Amino acid sequence: MIKFKEEVVKLISQIDSGLEKEEIESLIEIPPSHEMGDYAFPCFRLAKTFRKAPNLISAELVEKIGENEYFEKIESVGPYMNFFVKKEAIAKTVLEEAKQKRDKFGSSKMGEGKTVLVEFSSPNIAKPFHIGHIRTTIIGHALYRIYTFLGFDTVAINHLGDYGTQFGKLIVGYKNWGDKETIEKDPINELLKLYVKFHEEAEKNPALDDEARNWFNKLEHQDEEALELWHWMREISLSEFNKVYDMLGIKFDSLAGESFYSDKMPRVIEELEEKKLLVKSEGAEIVDLESFGLPPALVKKSDGSTLYVTRDIAASIYRKEHYDFYKNIYVVGSEQILHFKQWMAIVKLMGYDWVKDCIHVPFGMVSLEDGTMSTRKGRVVFLEDVLKKAIEKTHDIIEERNPNLENKEEVAKQVGIGAIVFQELFNGRIKDYVFSWDKTLSFEGETGPYVQYAHARANRLLDKGEFSLEDDIDYSLLNSEEEMAIIKLLYDFPNTVINSAEKYEPSFVTRHITEIAKSFNRFYHNCPILSEDEEIKKARLLLVYATKEVLKTGLNLLGIEAPDKM
Ligand code: ARG
Repeated sequence: MIKFKEEVVKLISQIDSGLEKEEIESLIEIPPSHEMGDYAFPCFRLAKTFRKAPNLISAELVEKIGENEYFEKIESVGPYMNFFVKKEAIAKTVLEEAKQKRDKFGSSKMGEGKTVLVEFSSPNIAKPFHIGHIRTTIIGHALYRIYTFLGFDTVAINHLGDYGTQFGKLIVGYKNWGDKETIEKDPINELLKLYVKFHEEAEKNPALDDEARNWFNKLEHQDEEALELWHWMREISLSEFNKVYDMLGIKFDSLAGESFYSDKMPRVIEELEEKKLLVKSEGAEIVDLESFGLPPALVKKSDGSTLYVTRDIAASIYRKEHYDFYKNIYVVGSEQILHFKQWMAIVKLMGYDWVKDCIHVPFGMVSLEDGTMSTRKGRVVFLEDVLKKAIEKTHDIIEERNPNLENKEEVAKQVGIGAIVFQELFNGRIKDYVFSWDKTLSFEGETGPYVQYAHARANRLLDKGEFSLEDDIDYSLLNSEEEMAIIKLLYDFPNTVINSAEKYEPSFVTRHITEIAKSFNRFYHNCPILSEDEEIKKARLLLVYATKEVLKTGLNLLGIEAPDKM
């Protein structure tokens, strides 16, 4: 596509402005509304060179530039020069790109030869996969898809919490009060019950805590019984988690979780020792992080067992050696910011500069309308139930509004799950939010179903109008305000995808496609598409086609399906 912003840079660098191209580019602004132009250049920085007030400079330069191939109008407003892109030029460049790239519109090869690891979801084995995990799972999956679309070699990693002292607790719980058959019927709920019971009992009888520590120690030393129980809990939990991943269309390339690194830990401790980074403190080993302004990090307990921090250090070193990553992204809640700062500081102290490519992508908390949740007290909302309920509710709506729809079950699934994913990705990730059934499942306003519906509507129009990609198009016919609004949004889509990757912010894509759907609906209501004369119909149908492709691509990047009919 023509890069109009670069054309602005060229025009300005042709006049002796005394500014370098990069500087000019960085000064260019996007006006808040299209009535003020598509690009604006503020002349304040030219005042030195020209020895004049910026508004005089702006007026003079506009005069000097005169007629231009890509801009129908260049206007001087106060100290600003406002550039208006030629309608036909932008319509042509966008729609020819859409014809050529089809469902790849917005994709790129910028990532070629670079490996990006996206670690996300990472639930803890034997614990519920609850609404609190929705964020890492959905945000991480979207980032994984976005990076893939930009041509990176991406690896989806589920860093399972399949190791740690909680397994000691579970083993004690199981041996005292558990029953194999009952557990296998409803693994997570029953294991959760044992976990809750353990905590209740341990309050009365602290000896249980020692017992649990003991069992975890046994596990670390490959005790057969401990290993067998651990294995079994891991397997039955995973098959529960997989139900959710299947519903969300998520596949992982690696399930190397915390246990995977247990035999890679001694090396880390040795290396820390060699590099003289360890300090003894009450029998345990810590790393002093004062030079980073961080509290010291405990890497080895007095009973010899290693910790979460140590496992993350081992994991990062392993990943660098194994994948030679360009970026290693961790989608993990903001309550772990300190943890990530600490282990990354230690890796830095070890002399590994690549740690700058390890990126913690935090996000705010989810809470329930009636307070927060706690695994220990057993107050949780299961993610699987949320998804199922969304599907059921969507099914009811379809029965009510469109009972003859083919493929009802499938569409209910795509729309119900899409609604959940979309609302999760609509707001910036760092904000805390309260999970509300009503909001999530309301199909009005800025929602997944709204965008999916715009896509299905576009699809129906293409069918009805017998659209063909071979048609010759007169691009000058697409000049109404409604048409231009969509064309400009489509033009900006590729950059939005890149920005969302660079800022680790899928919400940029969510909001962008929502705007496209809104503009499309305005266009649909105000501009007759099928009833006009043949030339206008052809041009408008091509615009419908491009819109459809981009809506579908955008939804798919977020991990949402786009049904053809709904
Ligand atoms: N399992 C952890 C939890 O549920 C998240 C793991 C995050 N990833 C990591 N590399 N520490 O809190």
